[in-house]
Amino acid sequence: MKVLVIGSGGREHAIVRALADDPAVTDLFCAPGNGGTDDVATCLPVVATDPDQVAALATSLGVDLVVIGPEAPLVAGVADAVRSAGIACFGPSAKAAVLEGSKAFAKEVMAAAGVPTARSAVCTTAAEAATALDDFGAPYVVKDDGLAAGKGVVVTSDRDEALAHAAACERVVIEEYLDGPEVSLFVLTDGDSALALSPAQDFKRINDGDEGPNTGGMGAYTPLPWAPAGLVDEVLTSVVHPTLAELRRRDTAFTGLLYVGLALTSQGLRVVEFNARFGDPETQAVLARLESPFGELLMAAATGRLGEHPALLWSQGSAVTVVLAAAGYPDAPITGTVITGIEDAQAMEGVSVLHAGTNRASDGTLTSSGGRVLSVTAIGENLSQARARAYEAIARIDLAGGHYRTDIALRAALSE
Ligand code: AMP
Ligand code: GLY
Repeated sequence: MKVLVIGSGGREHAIVRALADDPAVTDLFCAPGNGGTDDVATCLPVVATDPDQVAALATSLGVDLVVIGPEAPLVAGVADAVRSAGIACFGPSAKAAVLEGSKAFAKEVMAAAGVPTARSAVCTTAAEAATALDDFGAPYVVKDDGLAAGKGVVVTSDRDEALAHAAACERVVIEEYLDGPEVSLFVLTDGDSALALSPAQDFKRINDGDEGPNTGGMGAYTPLPWAPAGLVDEVLTSVVHPTLAELRRRDTAFTGLLYVGLALTSQGLRVVEFNARFGDPETQAVLARLESPFGELLMAAATGRLGEHPALLWSQGSAVTVVLAAAGYPDAPITGTVITGIEDAQAMEGVSVLHAGTNRASDGTLTSSGGRVLSVTAIGENLSQARARAYEAIARIDLAGGHYRTDIALRAALSE
């Protein structure tokens, strides 16, 4: 099987590594890729959000399957263009990807499907926003309606800050605050059948103790020793299947990866958000434990055969991912900084380093090219061992001004 992966982040590096481990995958391409993806894939330039370019590249390479990593190409219709070219594609149509592209649309689908989520109001004026804020009360949750790379959400007890964020966006969703731990559940689907991956938790704030601004994600771990038994089945029954059915009813069947972001509140589980693709950095941790052949799995989802797929196989133990961010991230990341020590980190047992914002020069020098530069994933017998390995490995990597959280999976490890 020949496979082309679209994207350039840590998630895509994790996806190509997992595909490379599947003996059925004979040829592996990644476009545009990053400074690390060429370890297992042939990297080619492409404008990932250009549907015609991606479809033409897939056709010229003669691939059997295209896997689309990030949300922007999906919303731009890249999966539609690839399928129109007669090639199987893992990723939803532009119409179905609106589930991530518009928070207001996601809320509408959830309401129609009876899916538990925070009460919310869509606001386009300052007066509407003020009324909604006072209606729901503090802490305030204000979400930019459109795609914002994980940075469009403000959660604050400061009413002026909440109003200012609403004013800075054209259209916002204001909603009730959900307390309780968050869970990321990735569900593979062919539109009808659904297979859940191992639940994970990510850490969105920049600093230890969940302080500071939201980021794309600073770390993750899986599985969740504290999660209630039956959680995955409950999410499939109360969230995933009703949502997939509602989308089929609207003639926008969703195929690919449905990312269910949940809060486990005192009132029961609630959907915080849907995404239309694998989460980053949870994917790096989740795929580190997946033993089922990944190419076959994605192909089954892309071609409507997921219902025939055997139960997924997982390695015992846990995985922890820690993200190394550039100086200045998330506000104004400094790029062009030399990175060393990756080989030393990767020499450790159970450790893999996955690149995100990196660039390799023709002389082999590796430099940073983005805010989240790379992540270190370690597997271990339990979370404590995986954490210890991940932190020892990340300490071996040198990036001037680089920073990472020191408390990824800490609380969960203490509870095992
Ligand atoms: P989202 O882009 O919707 O995932 O929001 C980003 C982050 O903001 C989430 O992971 C939560 O930590 C936080 N958040 C979003 N919605 C709520 C809510 N209703 N109540 C509390 N926190 C929220
Ligand atoms: N980890 C959060 C996201 O991928 O949106």
